[in-house]
Amino acid sequence: MNVLGIESSCDETAAAVVSDGRHIRSSIIWSQVEVHAPYGGVVPEIASRSHLQAIVPVVRQALAQADMTLDDLDGLAVTIGPGLVGALLVGVQFAKALALGTGLPIVGVNHIEAHFMAAFLDESREPPRFPFVALAVSGGHSSLFRVDGFGRFSLLGRTLDDAAGEAFDKAAAVLGLPYPGGVAIDRVAEGRNPDTLRFPRSMIKEAGFDMSFSGLKSALRRHVELLGHPPSDDEVADIAAAFREAVVDVLVARTMAAAAASDVRDVVIAGGVAANRRLRARMGDAAERAGISLHAVPLALCADNAAMVAGLGHQYLFGSLADADCPRGLSMDPFIRMTATGG
Ligand code: KG4
Ligand code: ZN
Repeated sequence: MNVLGIESSCDETAAAVVSDGRHIRSSIIWSQVEVHAPYGGVVPEIASRSHLQAIVPVVRQALAQADMTLDDLDGLAVTIGPGLVGALLVGVQFAKALALGTGLPIVGVNHIEAHFMAAFLDESREPPRFPFVALAVSGGHSSLFRVDGFGRFSLLGRTLDDAAGEAFDKAAAVLGLPYPGGVAIDRVAEGRNPDTLRFPRSMIKEAGFDMSFSGLKSALRRHVELLGHPPSDDEVADIAAAFREAVVDVLVARTMAAAAASDVRDVVIAGGVAANRRLRARMGDAAERAGISLHAVPLALCADNAAMVAGLGHQYLFGSLADADCPRGLSMDPFIRMTATGG
């Protein structure tokens, strides 16, 4: 069974073909990073227009890379939310038109669920065992879930203000580092001593699994102001390392606490920030100490991509969720919101 996935929720136009919900036959990601870089963040209107330009060539490339035509497909899956409304519209309407033209079944999937279910596309190892705890951490989200099965997940905690990736991006802007800031901070922080200064770890000792990153971002801004001069390259690297350590401390502590409270054997980390080297290393150490198996989603599947959409779409079209109530068919309504029980 071959499913074509389409993703356009933010600033990546992506298409991919996945076979049987597990084997990635192609994955094309057209990143708009350069288009948004001058603005230091994603400009929604520009994102929508860029998706319009990219969507047809990206889908064509995904079919070509898989050595397939539309005739080889069995179904279509498209990200239906959460995301930027105008950006989502492009992918959803394109996918609906394709379904209308081909007669293929179509399903809309939740972007966040697709992020953490990307762990099932890692063919180098056994998939995670249900129930597991998932940390979805990106530019738009920092949330912890208990996942009991495909389509069955509940929110344990989330950021009460900025997402971790958003905090990285804002901190990088203060430090004069390029967008996307998470990548730049990770790069300059690598190999530096994270303890030359210390930023706050908000809420780390409080009950529950919510998080907060805006105080940390303000602390960094204050620190730079108090320096009284633009930070040197050396100072930027020390600040970046200390900032990264604070974010990672919070994410590791909250995730491990959620895993312990949920009594799970497996933890998944996913989303753009899950590409962070320090987060992967520190979460790996913490998991090992706790006797938990860590599934850090492969780097190619951390940032927004369509393989994760196609893989999850397979479950809703042909797998365990084929009969589940979910947005499907040509009249499906986009822009589902995250709920406690999932999309
Ligand atoms: O999942 P994603 O591609 O898009 C969203 O759904 O938001 O995540 C993008 C976010 C950006 O904030 C970016 O700065 C961050 O992920 N990011 C990182 C790293 N690579 C990307 N943050 C920390 N370390 C990284 N290596
Ligand atoms: Zn994402």
